[in-house]
Amino acid sequence: MAKDLRYFLEKVKNELPDDYIEVTRSVDPNNFDITAILEHLTKQNKFPLVLFKNPKNLKGEDTEIPVVSNVFAKRERCALALDWPVDQSNLPLSLEYARLEREIIPPVEIGKEQAPVKEIILRGPEADPAILPGVRHYEMDLSPVFTMTLIMKDPDTGIYDITFAKTFYKGSQRMGASIHTPHLERIVNKYKERNEPAPVVQVLGHHPAFYLGSLALSPYDADDYASVGSFLREPLRLVESETWGKDFLVPADAEIIIEGEVLPGEKEIVDPFGEVTRHYQAQCIRQAVNVTAITRRKNAIMQDIFSGHEGHWNLGALPKEGSVFNAVNSRYGNVKAVHLPHSGIGRLACYISIDKKREGDAKIAGLAALLESWTFQVVVVVDDDIDVFNEKEVVWAILTMVDPKRDITMVENVHTVFTTAMGHNKMIIDATKPLDRAFPERFRIPESAMQRIKLDEWIK
Ligand SMILES: Cc1cc2nc3c(=O)[nH]c(=O)nc-3n(C[C@H](O)[C@H](O)[C@H](O)COP(=O)(O)O)c2cc1C
Repeated sequence: MAKDLRYFLEKVKNELPDDYIEVTRSVDPNNFDITAILEHLTKQNKFPLVLFKNPKNLKGEDTEIPVVSNVFAKRERCALALDWPVDQSNLPLSLEYARLEREIIPPVEIGKEQAPVKEIILRGPEADPAILPGVRHYEMDLSPVFTMTLIMKDPDTGIYDITFAKTFYKGSQRMGASIHTPHLERIVNKYKERNEPAPVVQVLGHHPAFYLGSLALSPYDADDYASVGSFLREPLRLVESETWGKDFLVPADAEIIIEGEVLPGEKEIVDPFGEVTRHYQAQCIRQAVNVTAITRRKNAIMQDIFSGHEGHWNLGALPKEGSVFNAVNSRYGNVKAVHLPHSGIGRLACYISIDKKREGDAKIAGLAALLESWTFQVVVVVDDDIDVFNEKEVVWAILTMVDPKRDITMVENVHTVFTTAMGHNKMIIDATKPLDRAFPERFRIPESAMQRIKLDEWIK
């Protein structure tokens, strides 16, 4: 049986039962019911996967399509998705991600009759995204959105690109797509130059390895259908689309697929939307999509990302930690761990621990990390006795080890995408212990005493 979302939900239920919650009462996702429930859980420091079994659709009617959210909100579930030990979900998971990124497993094509996503096919006026339980996330959001990945195909090479980009519901058969990623923009522009509509599909539910794999830092020419296979650890099954037949293949084991066309010369207003940064993205004009078909399973489950929260941040951090580790370590050989913390939305801040041998090593590691990801605004380098996954320790190192005159370095006028007060400036903080002057030792209890004292023998 091919891997799909329901296979994963069963796995969570069986292997991480405390991580799985079902809400059976009727919820109206377009009236903030889902995000309010998730926000209450977040305030209690709880990040379970939540299946909303009885949501309303965008017409306000009861729908048989449940919504699942928070799938990626804990690293342990990301590990489970990649068939990786859940107790190895810090750096080892990131290094496994970086390893999978270098492999490919080509997809396979199957017939329509075998494809679960073809159980229900809606075309024409019936293909109205309002039949789906679209989620309105934040107070000032322009409209409800669909937050999962878009897929487009390069018209010259035929490679497929899978990228997270949300769509705003704009009325029957019409959506605004918030496409501002380099790869998808390149494809959109190629069709625009030809004055042709660009095929696009949105995948509203699949096995989480499909989504994690779509974030691999692969070059433009790589076919994302093949890179996703390595994360699924099996070939992705594809099937012909309703709109373009075999000229555009779609994931056969998806829950719901919206097919549509980006129209050259037509635009739609998108945003505001509560973004990954936890601020609203300002309103702008982006691509218009005419919906041509919706296909789905009979008992489809729609997936959503709780924007600007833990799952969204893990999706930013996991794909970068391993590659930054490998890049900096292959150059200098002194890196112990890399982490992109939630406080930096899994994108803005990078914590690196190194085995420092000489003064100045930290700054070199920081500069190398800045080159690896354009999302970083602050790189903090600490000694290898600091656990970069424990933010309290990192902040302690900053507050006790940093001489701001020499240990904070600004790199000015470097392009960035996120809107923060730092603007186009970046910062490296060397929070390692200085080696060129006398400095107190960090205290510790002798290791022999820690080994000798077994807590349960002393405290019942
Ligand atoms: C949950 C999630 C939602 C995202 N939403 C959008 C979006 O709406 N628009 C967008 O342009 N990028 C969005 N992104 C960022 C892109 O998916 C990301 O930059 C991607 O890695 C770029 O892919 P590319 O290298 O193929 O261009 C989102 C990312 C995540 C993880």
